[in-house]
Amino acid sequence: MNILIIGSGGREHALAWKIAQSPLVEVVWSAPGSPAMDRIGPCFDVAADDVQGLHDLALQLEPDLIVIGPEAPLAAGLADGLRARGFDVFGPGAEGAKLEASKGFAKDFMARLGVPTAMYRKVTDPVSARAFFDSLSPPYVIKADGLAAGKGVVIAPDIDTAIHEAQAMLSGRFGGAGAGLVLEEFMSGEEASVFVLTDGVNRLTLPACQDHKRLLDGDRGPNTGGMGAYAPAPVMTPELLKQVDETIAAPIIDAMAEAGFPYQGVLYIGLMITPDGPKVVEFNVRLGDPECQVLMMGLADDIVPALLACATGGMPARDFARLLPQLHASRPAACVVMAAQGYPGAYEKGSVIKGLKAAGAVEGVTVFHAGTGVNEEGDWIAAGGRVLTVTAAGDTLEQAVARAYEAVDLIDWPQGVCRRDIAWRALGKS
Ligand code: AMP
Ligand code: GLY
Repeated sequence: MNILIIGSGGREHALAWKIAQSPLVEVVWSAPGSPAMDRIGPCFDVAADDVQGLHDLALQLEPDLIVIGPEAPLAAGLADGLRARGFDVFGPGAEGAKLEASKGFAKDFMARLGVPTAMYRKVTDPVSARAFFDSLSPPYVIKADGLAAGKGVVIAPDIDTAIHEAQAMLSGRFGGAGAGLVLEEFMSGEEASVFVLTDGVNRLTLPACQDHKRLLDGDRGPNTGGMGAYAPAPVMTPELLKQVDETIAAPIIDAMAEAGFPYQGVLYIGLMITPDGPKVVEFNVRLGDPECQVLMMGLADDIVPALLACATGGMPARDFARLLPQLHASRPAACVVMAAQGYPGAYEKGSVIKGLKAAGAVEGVTVFHAGTGVNEEGDWIAAGGRVLTVTAAGDTLEQAVARAYEAVDLIDWPQGVCRRDIAWRALGKS
């Protein structure tokens, strides 16, 4: 079969890499893809948010399966349109994508179903914001309702900062995304991410991950899209995973189906493990980046039958459960993101990256490209904020992390930065 992947980041490079290993697959196409993805299969110059262009491309290529990587095209209804044309698509329709695209929708949905999450209020003015925060103790959590490229959340230490931040969002810091706000009670605990593959009825939970959102070692500095990740995360015991499936994944996925919008793809559950148990921080409607890189690296099984089953739907429960039999025997894996100096603020593009071949030759390592290009001399160059995801599997998490850093040290890129403490929580526990 032939598979079309939508997207161009490290997540999509890892998906293409894993999918291409499947004995079921002949060609992996990507749109728009990247120079690194082009080495796996042909890329087509159609942007991930060009819904009409992607419809046209699908009609031209007639792929057997379309895997949509990023959230923006899902929120724009790309999956609905492609399904209406008869394609099998991995990724929810626009209604399901609202779980990520509107934090207010997600909170109301959870409240209706009794899914554990932080107490909240939706507001559109600073006076209501102050009234709600007056009923809580600091710190205060302020979120733009809409998609804000992962930057729409502020944790404020005191009420004046909280109101100032709320005002800035309401007056357009994130454009329309901040026209409405979701204010939340602060939850303390350790964070983890759980990814549930579903065909709208059946569910398969992938090994739990932990991301590292802050730029600097010790979880300091600004929030980023993610500076590294690992799986499985020991904080998510089998009992907690079962609890998350029963109290979060099942009610959400069942309610979507009952509402007439069966959710076909992956539900990303961002969790806080609080003293009262796991609570939802946020939902995303796609695989995480860089969590996907780690999951693809660790997974022993072929991922394609599971992606296909989610996209087509209708598989008997027993068969669905057998799709990834080695799931929890999958190998520990870790990744280190190398970013351009200055990220998540302004950064330069075009610096030359050497040593990728040597890094990729370290046992168990693959370097996924999140934002690279090729210059006239044929060198790899930086072409984004997050540039590389150096990813490794090992017999143990310690070994995976050591291999990833051994590879990082072979990469000759003076303008690149990375964290040195990926997986510190798990390694500290062992
Ligand atoms: P989000 O973009 O919703 O994932 O939020 C970014 C980060 O803000 C999360 O990874 C958490 O670290 C933090 N966060 C969001 N909501 C809360 C909350 N209610 N309590 C504590 N931390 C939160
Ligand atoms: N790594 C966090 C995300 O993909 O949203």
